[in-house]
Amino acid sequence: MDFEQAMAEKAANLCKKDTVRILSLESSCDETAAAIIENGRKICANVIFSQIDLHALYGGVVPEIASRAHVEACDRVIDQALAEAGMTFDDIDALAVTYGPGLVGALLTGVNCMKGLSYALQKPLIPVNHIEGHVSANYLTHPDLKPPFVCLVVSGGHSHLVRVEDYGVYTLLGQTFDDAAGEAFDKAARVLGLPYPGGPRIDALAEEGNPHAFQLPHPHTEGRYDYSFSGLKTAFLNLAHKAEQKGEPLNKADMAATFRYAVVSSLVDKALLAAKETHAPALAMAGGVSANRLLRRMMQEACDRAGLPLYMPKLRLCTDNGAMIGSAAYYRLLRGEIAPLTLNAQPALRLV
Ligand code: KG4
Ligand code: ZN
Repeated sequence: MDFEQAMAEKAANLCKKDTVRILSLESSCDETAAAIIENGRKICANVIFSQIDLHALYGGVVPEIASRAHVEACDRVIDQALAEAGMTFDDIDALAVTYGPGLVGALLTGVNCMKGLSYALQKPLIPVNHIEGHVSANYLTHPDLKPPFVCLVVSGGHSHLVRVEDYGVYTLLGQTFDDAAGEAFDKAARVLGLPYPGGPRIDALAEEGNPHAFQLPHPHTEGRYDYSFSGLKTAFLNLAHKAEQKGEPLNKADMAATFRYAVVSSLVDKALLAAKETHAPALAMAGGVSANRLLRRMMQEACDRAGLPLYMPKLRLCTDNGAMIGSAAYYRLLRGEIAPLTLNAQPALRLV
């Protein structure tokens, strides 16, 4: 029997086991992260090595530096995850890795590391879509959550409204025409002279400011559930430049608060509209921007008013981590989705 056939057989047998433990690796951007997840819901270990310090000097992620740092960190985070769980490779049933979307060199590092491990340990490897991983962070935080639900996925690279029909079955309701929400936050933060990554910084600064201090345009989109943030970003930049030219001091906290309110209002309005119009029994959020304090508050208030249950990942599971990959992998395993030895990185992989 060849390797791939043997792995398919092992994977089929795993589906009959009561407890399945998956060791997962995430390396799509600037976090090298490993986790051990039981039955898609329980975190046995969750180790995140952030490269932020390496990239901060350049004001953003430098792909070459990220790839190199992943190579150095992969083994280490895997060893740490095993130590944290008090386990050895013998306790692990299957492996999982993010194969897209993301930076190609960064993804390749993780994919090759896990392909090698899969071959050496003779354990099946499950390929995971990074965006599906973000959605699955909710399954770890809320053991009772089951599809269907509508999910707002907002990260540095993506702003999607999807309907999760079933595990692994998604309908795209809307997406951004231009910048992702996280990208918009990062760019606005740069205008205010805040260091990378700007999202959390602008969020903290905004807590001190007045969200109605300035006028910013309402984003217009063709689709009912689509987003657009580049107009807001340009208006924000013009506001800062005009003040600078006139020599007027601008209150940075007020600016941060105004920008944050504009982005968050747009996210909340469309997510609620999509949930209502598709008769979703619940709404969930995922991705780095779902850590935003105002977004969490305003979405909770809007859902309470609408009588709609809201699910949000724990803060540590909003931004990139390996645990969410291990959760998504479990449901892929149940569907018999395992990687061939030819698995490659897919930088532009889509969810739907
Ligand atoms: O999901 P993530 O870790 O990586 C991607 O898959 O892109 O998201 C990172 C993004 C960055 O743009 C970061 O600035 C943003 O999420 N972010 C935030 C907050 N925390 C992280 N944006 C706004 N408010 C926050 N509190
Ligand atoms: Zn992400």
